[in-house]
Amino acid sequence: MLRVVPSFDRIGDENAFAVLARAAALAAQGRDVVNLGIGQPDFPTPAHIVEAGIKALRDGHHGYTPAVGIPPLREAVARDIHRRHGVEVSPDAVMVVPGGKVTMFMAILMFGAPGAEILYPDPGFPIYRSMIEFTGATPVPVPIREDNGFAFSAAETLALITERTRLLIVNSPANPTGGVTPKAEVDALVEGLAAHPGVAVLSDEIYGTMTYDGEAHVSLLAYPEIRDRLIYLDGASKTYAMTGWRLGWSVWPKPLHDAARKLAVNSFSCVNAAAQWAGIAALDGPQDDVAAMVAAFDQRRRLVVEGLNGLPNVSCVTPKGAFYAFPNVARTGWKAKALATALLDEAGVAVIGGPDFGIHGEGYLRLSYANSAENIARALDRMRRFLSERAPG
Ligand SMILES: Cc1ncc(COP(=O)(O)O)c(C=O)c1O
Repeated sequence: MLRVVPSFDRIGDENAFAVLARAAALAAQGRDVVNLGIGQPDFPTPAHIVEAGIKALRDGHHGYTPAVGIPPLREAVARDIHRRHGVEVSPDAVMVVPGGKVTMFMAILMFGAPGAEILYPDPGFPIYRSMIEFTGATPVPVPIREDNGFAFSAAETLALITERTRLLIVNSPANPTGGVTPKAEVDALVEGLAAHPGVAVLSDEIYGTMTYDGEAHVSLLAYPEIRDRLIYLDGASKTYAMTGWRLGWSVWPKPLHDAARKLAVNSFSCVNAAAQWAGIAALDGPQDDVAAMVAAFDQRRRLVVEGLNGLPNVSCVTPKGAFYAFPNVARTGWKAKALATALLDEAGVAVIGGPDFGIHGEGYLRLSYANSAENIARALDRMRRFLSERAPG
């Protein structure tokens, strides 16, 4: 009998992938499914980025690269940060990783152990809690509230810090809610953190280019007072429609950067070389495709929010960032996960139940509007019919 170590009993999952598989299986049986489940842009990677990847292969970039990434990409990341956030970052502090997820994996491994507490947003990206539990640390959910526009509250976050807290995870613009935390709240958080110098901060800014209604994305990199304990997470997946390329990057305080390098050496060695060269084209090249994609998401966001607010017993605050809507469905009489399952099986609409993002996700669904306007309209139509005709199960 094979015996895997007990920590694997605690590792979680990301249900969006299970829903994607189930939606694909239903589609393979000939069912017509509209997929608003998975969080990835429905656009192709911009052509000049694809060409740069192909050219890299033709030019012979077939071997290992440095574990921390090729120098020109690390320099391009530093330039991108300067351009977008007005902050100087040394390329030496940058680490190239296979996707945004890997930065959180590394950070949580560095600070998670039995006895430690790690604060994370709830509802939030499910991998935070999963990895915290895997390490044996205590997950401490920071409630993300609808009546606060799904921004995190500095006061509520700071009140949860104890002498055991080792890491605080923040995410804005946020998955699954689309919430964006305003500058005043980030200022208050950073100010409050001065009293807790032993708490590291992981700022997941993977949706940083996607904000709407003039809402500014505030990077935690812009606060010099926490730079010596800040881990900045970003990557190409969402901004450049590159989820399948597996390319992310992070900025680490000096002592942690070497620990991250060692984790890379002990696991993936380096990111696929062609993807790294494509990443340089993404960051240094024209940003028109990004602007066009964000403009399209903005239009669809309006369609989704208007449509959801027109459904019986459903209400939806207007998300200010990312490409998710997080409607409140508590008044439908359904439990959120049961509703998500029934919508997929009976109405052919794939969405994710809020509880897949944490205990505070009950009563909500997550819809990704990274889909065409026609598909969004079809999904809303099906949801309207379903909620009007079907008694809660
Ligand atoms: C908040 C958040 N962080 C990180 C990631 C991971 O991105 P990647 O696909 O680059 O690993 C995602 C992906 O859905 C996300 O929603």
